[in-house]
Amino acid sequence: MLSQYLYISTAPSLSREEVESILQTSARNNPEKGITGLLLYNGRNFLQLLEGEEAELISLMVRITHDPRHTGISVLDRRTIDDRACPNWAMKRVLIAQSIEDRKKMLDRDLPKGLDNETRRIIMNFAVLN
Ligand SMILES: Cc1cc2nc3c(=O)[nH]c(=O)nc-3n(C[C@H](O)[C@H](O)[C@H](O)COP(=O)(O)O)c2cc1C
Repeated sequence: MLSQYLYISTAPSLSREEVESILQTSARNNPEKGITGLLLYNGRNFLQLLEGEEAELISLMVRITHDPRHTGISVLDRRTIDDRACPNWAMKRVLIAQSIEDRKKMLDRDLPKGLDNETRRIIMNFAVLN
């Protein structure tokens, strides 16, 4: 059975390289674990969507929770899903546009079409903070 986790965490002022390195590690590790998802970073907080088998997600969440690059992990949603929203993404980086006006437009374009409405709404709300 497939599950989906959605969490936010706090990581003030990580460099572009540090975020890039997290994405590279994810791209290296996630395929063999059957994990897919997306990651947003707004300069202060992460939002990550993870999807895969429950046991793999739990073991990844334990690793992520102990990662010193961020703190205050708060799980916003955990649910079983029939289909993946990000089947083709080991970990998709979703960029947040500088200007508030462009953000919604870019997210409408870049967020996977398969996201359920509530998850999409939470991600949109996250992306307009700050
Ligand atoms: C916000 C955030 C998201 C992360 N997402 C993943 C992920 O999807 N997959 C992953 O393997 N590691 C992820 N990591 C990194 C893990 O915490 C951990 O450093 C990594 O899995 C160790 O892998 P390695 O032993 O191959 O270096 C993430 C870290 C942070 C801070």
